[in-house]
Amino acid sequence: MHVSFRIPLIKQLIAVCVVMPGFVTLAADSPRERLLMDFNWRFQLGDAPDAGAKFDYPEVSDLSKTHLDEIGQGAKLIANLADPLKSNLGADVSFAKPDFNDSGWRKLDLPHDWAVELPFSTNADFKHGFKPVGTNFLQNSIGWYRREFTLPSSDQGKRLWVEFDGVYRNSIVWLNGHCLGRNPSGYGSFHYDLTRFANCGGTNELAVRVDASRFEGWFYEGAGIYRHVWLVKTSPLYIAPDGVFVWSSFSNNVPSGAATIHVQTQLINYQSNAVDLSLRCELFDPDGRFLGRYRQPTNMDDYSKMKLELTMVVEAARLPKAVLPSGPGGPEVPMADQRFSTAFSGHGPMLWSPESPKLYKLVTMIESEGKVFDRKETEFGIRTIAFDAMRGFLLNGQPYVIKGTCNHQDHAGVGTAMPDALQYFRVRKLKEMGSNAIRTSHNPPTPELLEACDRLGMLVMDENRRVDETPLALDDLRQLIVRDRNHPSVFMWSLGNEEGRLQATNGAEAAVKLITPMQALAHELDPTRLFTIAMNGGWGDGFSKVIDVQGFNYRTRNIDAYHIRFPDKPAIGTETASTRTTRGIYADDKSRGYVAAYGEDGVEKPWTWWSYYAKHPFTSGGFVWTGFDYRGEPTPYKWPCISSHFGLMDTCGFPKDIYYYYQAWWTDQPVLHLAAGWSSLGSGGKTNLVRCFSNCQMVELFLNSKSLGRKFMPENEYLDWNVAYAPGVLSAKGYHGTKVAAETKVETIGSPAAIQLHPDRNTITADGQDLSIVDVSVVDESGEVVANANNLIRFELKGPGQIIGVGNGDPSSHEPDKALQRRAFNGFAQVIVQAARQQGTIELTVSSPTLSSDNLKIKTKTDKSSPGVLP
Ligand code: GAL
Repeated sequence: MHVSFRIPLIKQLIAVCVVMPGFVTLAADSPRERLLMDFNWRFQLGDAPDAGAKFDYPEVSDLSKTHLDEIGQGAKLIANLADPLKSNLGADVSFAKPDFNDSGWRKLDLPHDWAVELPFSTNADFKHGFKPVGTNFLQNSIGWYRREFTLPSSDQGKRLWVEFDGVYRNSIVWLNGHCLGRNPSGYGSFHYDLTRFANCGGTNELAVRVDASRFEGWFYEGAGIYRHVWLVKTSPLYIAPDGVFVWSSFSNNVPSGAATIHVQTQLINYQSNAVDLSLRCELFDPDGRFLGRYRQPTNMDDYSKMKLELTMVVEAARLPKAVLPSGPGGPEVPMADQRFSTAFSGHGPMLWSPESPKLYKLVTMIESEGKVFDRKETEFGIRTIAFDAMRGFLLNGQPYVIKGTCNHQDHAGVGTAMPDALQYFRVRKLKEMGSNAIRTSHNPPTPELLEACDRLGMLVMDENRRVDETPLALDDLRQLIVRDRNHPSVFMWSLGNEEGRLQATNGAEAAVKLITPMQALAHELDPTRLFTIAMNGGWGDGFSKVIDVQGFNYRTRNIDAYHIRFPDKPAIGTETASTRTTRGIYADDKSRGYVAAYGEDGVEKPWTWWSYYAKHPFTSGGFVWTGFDYRGEPTPYKWPCISSHFGLMDTCGFPKDIYYYYQAWWTDQPVLHLAAGWSSLGSGGKTNLVRCFSNCQMVELFLNSKSLGRKFMPENEYLDWNVAYAPGVLSAKGYHGTKVAAETKVETIGSPAAIQLHPDRNTITADGQDLSIVDVSVVDESGEVVANANNLIRFELKGPGQIIGVGNGDPSSHEPDKALQRRAFNGFAQVIVQAARQQGTIELTVSSPTLSSDNLKIKTKTDKSSPGVLP
C-alpha cells in the first residue's frame, strides 16, 4: 500500500444537467461512517514530566491583535522547527506513547473546558474572567487527553480520519505513538488522516496535548477539547473532507422564477488502480420530497484528486452578483454563464430566511462497478443575498434590516464546553427577543451553532480571528470558509475586528497589503458572499479601500460623514452599544460590581445607535455588543466582577430590562415593560426612576391603581417617570389607539416562599449529550418572583442523567459552576441537566432550607436520527 499521496491530478469538469423529477432514491449502502468520539476520554491537568522543551512553540508577542512590527513574523519564528509529522514530534514523551498507563487519569466526556472548573483567583487575568490559566499559571495551562478505541478488521483498506471541531489551543495529536500534527488555533476546526497509523482489528490510542498558556483574545476563552471530536471512515474512493460546496443562484440575483443549484465536489481516488465512476447528486426539498437526480460519468487515475462542478439548472442561470450595480467592486464569479430549461418538480423553490428557514438536502454519491462507494448528505438553503450602498442588506431581493447581536461562546455552568442543545437554546432566546442575526465575535464558531442557525432561522456574520499574512493565518481562513460556506445562515464573512494599529494612519499601507490577499483568497473560495472587517477607526482608509462592505464599530455620530464621502460603499453596523447593565439592579454598586439596569452606562446607549440605524437603511442594521453576558471583560469594574455586563441577557439567558427595549422595536408583538426596583430597600420615601420600554403608542402608569398620567411613546425610544416610592403595585397599560394592547406590573417585593422550576424541554434525547435547561425562580406566597431573592438552592438528581453546571447570572458570583447548589441572584438560578445514554426518567428535586421545594420529571428517549457513536 502506498503511504504518501502522489502529486495530485486535479481535473476540472464542468457539467450541466437537468433535474429529472420522478425518481426515488436508492437505499445506498455506503461505507461512510461519521462517529461521535466524545465519550470515554481520560484527562490529566499538567504536562508530561518528560516533556522538557520539546513542545515549545515560539509565537508573536500578542496573538489578539496584529502589531505592525510583527506582521508575518509568526512564520519566521517557527521556521526552524521540524515538521511535527515528519519528525514524529514528541513520540518519545511518556503521555504520547500508546502503552502509557493512564488508568489513574480522570475519566470524562467531551466537550470539556477545564478552565471553568478552576477556582477564581484575584491574581488571574480579569479579561479572562479571573480564572488561573495563561502564562502566569503554567501549571493549570497544559492538559493531556487520551482515548483508547478499537477498529474492526473490516476497516482495513478504508480511509480513516479524525475531525476536531475546535480545541483551545495549540494542540498536538498522536495516534499509536505517531504524531499527526499541530494546530495552534483555538477556534478553527481541523482533521488528521489516521489511515497510515491505524490498527484495524485491534486497539488504538489517540493522545492530545493541549496548551492553553497563551491567550488569543481579550475575553474568556476556556481550555481543552471544548467542541466535538469525530471519527470518519470512508472507502478509498471518496468525497474529500469538506469536499461538497453547494449554493444557489437566480437570474439577476432576485428570487423569481426558479433556482440554479451549483454543486462543486472534490473526489479522491486513493487506490492503485484507475477507476470509472459516476458522481450522482440527488435533491430533496424542505418537506423531504425527492426532486430529481443527476448522474455524471467520469473516470479517475490511480491516486488522484478531482474537482467536479455541476450546475443543476432550472431556468436561465446567470453569474451570481453579490453587489448590485450601485455598489463598487463586487466579486466576479469564475463560473460559466449557461442557459438551460426544465421544470423543478411542479413548484417553485422554497426560500430560506430567518422567518422561514427552509432547508433543502443534497445527497452526493460516488458509484462505481454497480456499488455505492461514498454517500454524503449536505443541507443547504435557496436564497439571495446582496448589499446595496443606498438600501443596505437585501435578503431574497428585499431590504432586510439586521437586528443582530455579537456573542462569545460561553454559557453559565459549562464555560466554552457547550453541548449542542445550548446552541439551540440560545438561538431561540435571541429570536424571542426579535433578533435575526448573530456575529460570531471574534472567531470561527462551532459548526453546530451554524446548524442551529440554519434550522431555527438566524443569519450569521462568520468571523475570522487573525489578520496576518502567515501561511497559518491564511490556512485558518481557508479552513473556515471551506467548512462553513454551505450554511444558508452565513450571509457574510468578517475578516477581523478592531485592528487598531492597522487602522491607524501609519498602518494603512500594511492594512491594504494584508487584507488584499486575504479577501482574494476568500472570494475565490466563496464567490457568493461579501466580506467586511469590523472597524472602530480609520474608516475610508487602509482596510476600507479593499473590503467589500464597510463595517462600523460604534461612533454612530461619525457614520453620516463617512457615507457622504463614500456614498457608493455598502455598509453594516458590525458592533454597537456596549451598554452595561446588571439584571435586577437599579443603582450602581461598585463594591459589589453591579451596574443599574436602565441602560445609561456604556459606549453608546441602545436608543442612540438604534434610532439612527433604524432610520438609515444604508447601514443595513447592526449587531449589539452582546446578546448574552460572557465571562471576562467585567467593564466598568474588575474584581469582584468576573463576567461582563454587556449582555441583553445574563450568562444564563435571563432577560435584563434592556432586552425589552430591543424586543419592543425589533418585534411586532405588543411589548410593555417597566424597569424599576419597587422595594423599600434603599429607596424608602425617595423618588424612583421608572423607565418603560414599549412599542405601544401610548403608556399610562399607575401606582396602587391611581393613574400617574399617560405619555406618547416616541419611536425607538422609551419613557421615564419619577415616582415617589410607596409600597404596593406599580402597573402600566399600553394603548394602541383607545385599545389596551398590553399590561404589566412590578410589585413591592414579598418574602421568598417557594421554588418554581421551568425546564426548556421535558423530553430529551438519551444520547449522553442532550440537555434540559431548567430555570429556577424563587417566588412569594402569590407566585410572584421575589426580585431580590438570593436563597441558596440545592439540586438533587436521580435517574439516567447528570447535572453538568449551575449558574445564576450574577456577574460577581464566585461560586463554582460545577456544583449541586447555587444561590439565586435577584430571584433566578439555572441548572443544566444532561441525559445519559439510557432511556428513562430523570427526577430533579430542587430545595432550599426555608422554601417549599419543587421537583420535575424529564424523560429521556432514544432517537434513531442521533449520530453514530464510537464505542
Ligand atoms: C469592542 C470590542 C469587543 C469588546 C467591546 C467592549 O471594542 O470589539 O470585543 O471588547 O469593545 O465594549
